[in-house]
Amino acid sequence: MSDCMIPSLPYDPQTLPRELVRHYIPASEEEIRLMCAAIGVSTLDDLFRHIPAQVRMHGPLALPEELAYGDLYHHMVEQSRKNHLADVSFVGDALPHYQVHDLVPFVASLRELLTAYTPYQPERSQGTLMTHWLYQSCLTALTGFEAINVSQYDRATALVEALHTAARISRHTRTHFLLAGSLFPQDIEVVQTLITDTALRVEIVPLDPQRGTVALETVRAHATAAAEPLAGIVFPQVNSLGCLEDVDSLTDLAHELGAQVIAVVDPMLLATGGLKPPAAFGNDGRGADVLVGEGQPLALPPHFGGPGLGVFGVRLNAAHKQDIRSAPGRFVGAGYDEAGREAKLLVLSTREQHIRRQKATSNICTNQGFVTTLAAAGILGRGEQGMQASCAQARAAAQAAARELIRFPGVELAFPDTAFWNAFTLALPHSSAEMLEAARQRGVHLGVDVSSRIPGSSGNHLLLSFSDLHVQAQVDALIACLTDLLGAPSEPEADVLPAVPVTYLRRDAAQLPNWDEAELRDFFTALSAQNISPDLTCYPLGSCTMKYNPYLNEVVTVLPGFAELHPEAPLQDAQGTLEVLYHIQEYFKAITGLSAVTTQPVAGAQGELVGLKLFQAYHRSRGETQRDIILIPHSAHGTNPATATMAGFDTVQRGSEIVSGVVEIDAASSGQMNLEHVRQLLARYPGRIAGIMITNPNTSGVFELQFQDVAEMIHADGGLVYMDGANMNAIAGWVDLGALGVDAVHNNLHKTWSIPHGGGGPGDAIVAVSERLRPFLPGVQVVKTAEGYAVERSPQSIGSVHRHFGNVAHKIRAYTYLRALGREGVRRMSAVAVLAARYLHQRLKPYFPTLPEERDDSPRMHEFIITLPAETFARLESEGISRTKAVGLFGKFFLDFGFHAPTVSFPEAEGLMIEPTESYNKAELDRFADAVILMLRLVNEQPSILTTVPHFTPVDKIDDVSANKQVILSEHLTHLPSVLPNRTAPEHLAQMSLEAIANAIRKASAAKLDRSYRVRQRHV
Ligand SMILES: Cc1ncc(COP(=O)(O)O)c(C=O)c1O
Repeated sequence: MSDCMIPSLPYDPQTLPRELVRHYIPASEEEIRLMCAAIGVSTLDDLFRHIPAQVRMHGPLALPEELAYGDLYHHMVEQSRKNHLADVSFVGDALPHYQVHDLVPFVASLRELLTAYTPYQPERSQGTLMTHWLYQSCLTALTGFEAINVSQYDRATALVEALHTAARISRHTRTHFLLAGSLFPQDIEVVQTLITDTALRVEIVPLDPQRGTVALETVRAHATAAAEPLAGIVFPQVNSLGCLEDVDSLTDLAHELGAQVIAVVDPMLLATGGLKPPAAFGNDGRGADVLVGEGQPLALPPHFGGPGLGVFGVRLNAAHKQDIRSAPGRFVGAGYDEAGREAKLLVLSTREQHIRRQKATSNICTNQGFVTTLAAAGILGRGEQGMQASCAQARAAAQAAARELIRFPGVELAFPDTAFWNAFTLALPHSSAEMLEAARQRGVHLGVDVSSRIPGSSGNHLLLSFSDLHVQAQVDALIACLTDLLGAPSEPEADVLPAVPVTYLRRDAAQLPNWDEAELRDFFTALSAQNISPDLTCYPLGSCTMKYNPYLNEVVTVLPGFAELHPEAPLQDAQGTLEVLYHIQEYFKAITGLSAVTTQPVAGAQGELVGLKLFQAYHRSRGETQRDIILIPHSAHGTNPATATMAGFDTVQRGSEIVSGVVEIDAASSGQMNLEHVRQLLARYPGRIAGIMITNPNTSGVFELQFQDVAEMIHADGGLVYMDGANMNAIAGWVDLGALGVDAVHNNLHKTWSIPHGGGGPGDAIVAVSERLRPFLPGVQVVKTAEGYAVERSPQSIGSVHRHFGNVAHKIRAYTYLRALGREGVRRMSAVAVLAARYLHQRLKPYFPTLPEERDDSPRMHEFIITLPAETFARLESEGISRTKAVGLFGKFFLDFGFHAPTVSFPEAEGLMIEPTESYNKAELDRFADAVILMLRLVNEQPSILTTVPHFTPVDKIDDVSANKQVILSEHLTHLPSVLPNRTAPEHLAQMSLEAIANAIRKASAAKLDRSYRVRQRHV
């Protein structure tokens, strides 16, 4: 391919210090040698010597040679061109495809929004928090729901969360649900996969093949016949045949039965002039109780299915004061900082896995954060008028096309008496499959064959979907294609399309704002400056692997060939993406040493859930359904126990005795699992252990040296072994997980494999499994055949865990990264990450104790935990600052030096967990170490300095107690919110000497202390 065919890069990589260095590792060979010498090792290999030889990988990985930057870009452009985009497409179905507003790619390019971590440190994350707040406010305007959550992966998994929520609202007295058979079959499959082996039960109400909707009488008959009271009825507004359901009658029926209404909507169609918002469903106007939808089209093109965005909401009003306590995931609330400035923060987090563990309302951790940011941009960019126009255009194009299409011989509306909005099903004179292929050869993707959704169909039903991408030209192309296939249409008749009942429509205006696009660009730019990016400095969040996210990955992922490809496009036209997925599967087999891979899970927690679902399927296949115990070390991340609960391992306790569910394993003094305790638990629960979940290296940064022994013991008892692979950055390419005895492991792409955290997500998690679990894999695997790449289902598949193929855009990013690393780079990456952590630890050890204490058999790998020295704690306590409070405040002190805080109080209550990654050179690590040592000196010098941190962020410490007492989750958006600037920007701090920063801190702290002294005096 010649250079002139390659689009030029939208940035100059020469100006980006981390972009062009080999393997994205900026430390020179000389610096690597110096760091090795400083910690007393001769080579990078020595860093792994303590790991038993029999589980170590030797030699280069079975990956291709690394590609140089320019070659890699060329390769990805070529790869994207192997996908064939249709000239016009009417494929929408489970993932509508709308225009992407220009503001979206602009916001996506703002690195501090794109690459930042989850906003757990609100003073340094006001940018992300504000974008999420705007998303919540916009969705409240569109749906009428008072509590919109910013977390869910996609519509299908949000639906599963909705079922759990409704059951929880009933205090688990009701667990039986009716699901309309007119929901997208993709969503129904995910529900069935994920509720297997849980207390939830669903019954599918078949749709009426004459009307194309579910009949009220059939729903009532199912409800009456059900043996137990219903927890909820789930139905779509626009169903999987394009038909509009009678949402008011269904809502009334559910309420009459005392059941929750779970409404599935398309948010794009709720704009002014569109369909009725779910908060107004029902003839008495009570509205739906739980809201589910797909938000990807608000912001993103199809990307072969993901990242998606699960829209999820519950009511928060006089009739529903407590429902929100049963809801999953994250909510952003309004609050104030200590000086009374308005600020945003995460609220109600005591429901979440990091606090409640197995009692959490969900296992969700990394979520779709950045897609919500982009969805806010997508909605605000369009504004009230633009949203209205998109919805109206989708409707107008569908009507225009329907009118024309029914003039073709033998073509008719499949449900001529049922109202539709922007999608409809046709009955064709020939098989849909034949028509689709014939149209494909003419460059048209006609739609989706929905014959299997209609009882009695003879294979001739086709669903066509319309959006604001369709104007008259697309309709004309459709007509031309059909004329070619079926002959000339007849003369138009009087309008015979079914009318939409007025009660199905929105009555009032959504009242979204109409803000100027240039002002919005400035606004989002200002918001991004409130965050911090790993581009700038070491972002030391332990367990999170906040490494550098290459610019190149972002550019190649949005190449039209990848981005515009619909997941339901014919697979012959998706060969470029399928090939990437195939290679990703192969690479992760090589990296893990395991035999098969699924690329469907979209976050670590979902990978864990897939793992446990696979365990259940395996045990079931052997008739061992009595296995109801999951062993998890005490130091595990909260997602592990929360996942076990979601999978169906409910913890039942009698006194201090665990009867079933999650049983914790104690730690030995080395910080590793206590082998003796594992033995005792095996003796206590013989034949009952379904599996064990072990993080390795563990969350203290220590490699579990007895992993293989534990795995053998568990296998001998018939159990299985899950490895939480969040810390693969320490061992990728060095440890053979097959030899370790792992049956399933997730690889967080948003940690080790370089995709950005996006202020909370979207993440991704490729799960690799042992031969035992291969037959049960979820979704599909990509296989290479003589004709090209195809997909295949495992024979005993557990079913899908995503409505399509998972977060495919992230696979493009990770593939690009892996091609940059090549066979040598993976091992070099993890070795330098371990070296950087050991070096930093070496520098800090003389000043800070390590938790748990370091011993010869527990050298730290990629991260380490420090705490404050006893004398510092004593001084702080004498100032009235408790030990745990001190640790939290010391974490915020990092913000004053232009860094993000380390991970605070996890897994050690008094710990600060630091993970530098391989992305920084020695000078940067030294500056970081010097800064941390200086922080300690400042605290020892004047303990009260911690009471005034942080000093240079846009806001002071935020008062989360008040914000959680009176929860405010949205506002009517009337004017562009003001953005507070940094008092000293991180870029500026990065240029200052550490002593100059210390002086500025002393001054700022003194001024704050003086102010609060004067305020106190006034109150005396
Ligand atoms: C050790 C560990 N396990 C599991 C997870 C959950 O992964 P995710 O956030 O991708 O769901 C994390 C996330 O930080 C983690 O650090």
